[in-house]
Amino acid sequence: MPQRERYLLVCTNRREAGHEKGCCADKSSEAIRLALKEQLAARGLAKLNARTCASSCLDQCSSGVCILVEPDHFFYGRVTLADLPEIVEAIATGQRVERLVLTADDLARG
Ligand code: FES
Repeated sequence: MPQRERYLLVCTNRREAGHEKGCCADKSSEAIRLALKEQLAARGLAKLNARTCASSCLDQCSSGVCILVEPDHFFYGRVTLADLPEIVEAIATGQRVERLVLTADDLARG
């Protein structure tokens, strides 16, 4: 398979119930990963443009569900299923969804 232009690393980490950091899995990250993969494929973007991958903890737990976008090297945070069409459109147009991009303050909180 060809190298994609972008890789979307979706945190699907699960921690035990009651853990102080919480986890992206408790915020439906696996459903988000699957839906993102499906929506990219439906737009014809999965083969060359973007590959969706499951990731372990990206250490931005307080802003989950987190998606690390490479090689652009930024995080989407607090992603829900409702945000996916906008993310897919941004992939299609080579842009990013600024309202979802984690800020320096978000990153400092971890
Ligand atoms: S559990 Fe998802 S970033 Fe840590």
